[in-house]
Amino acid sequence: MDGELGHARTVGRQIWVRGQEDDRREPDRLKRHRQLDPDSADLVWVLVLAARPARVLEIGTGSGVSTIHLADAARRVGARVTTVDRVAHPDVVANLARAGVGDVVDRVVQDAGAFLRGAAREGVDLLFLDAERSEYVGYLPDLLDVLAPGATLVVDNLLRPAPDELTAFVEAVRQHPAMSGVPVDIGHGLYLAVKGVPASGPAQTGP
Ligand SMILES: C[S@@+](CC[C@H](N)C(=O)[O-])C[C@H]1O[C@@H](n2cnc3c(N)ncnc32)[C@H](O)[C@@H]1O
Repeated sequence: MDGELGHARTVGRQIWVRGQEDDRREPDRLKRHRQLDPDSADLVWVLVLAARPARVLEIGTGSGVSTIHLADAARRVGARVTTVDRVAHPDVVANLARAGVGDVVDRVVQDAGAFLRGAAREGVDLLFLDAERSEYVGYLPDLLDVLAPGATLVVDNLLRPAPDELTAFVEAVRQHPAMSGVPVDIGHGLYLAVKGVPASGPAQTGP
């Protein structure tokens, strides 16, 4: 029995526990799994169910913990997940298969900047960003252009391990006239933002 999490998220937890053990032994940061923590994974899962995106894009597949949560929720709302990583992690195919989500995931092995440059404008309804934080500013403005009106942006590691690393990126997102965002202190910290839908009808007045 997988309990209340269901099969995919239970497997995601098991892969995360193993990844934590591996990461504690690995001195090289870039060789660690650095998987999405369980609380953030649960929030991302709920966000997909709530936002009901048709097209989910993940930047930073790693060994697939976040992909499993995105894909399990995506299946429930009839969506697909495209996940991009410049490296094909040796375990990712097996991990997605073990979680039973491989059929709703399209994996792309490519640099994220190049992928975003070639991606359809307004072609993404929910984007989860969990790659190399120092590169995020360089993904702009393509990253914001690929978001459809009403799309959700979720960025991991807003607060931990290094709160200053995302300051310039978040400020650039905040400056975008269509973006509205909020920091969330969960796990390593998430930045959640929505690309606004142009207002229609009478102008809003008052609080
Ligand atoms: C923190 S790990 C992702 C963890 C994953 N989201 C999870 O929960 O298991 C970051 C990943 O981003 C990838 N990455 C870093 N820079 C990238 C880039 N420029 N383009 C594509 N992938 C990149 C790395 O190869 C690594 O697998």
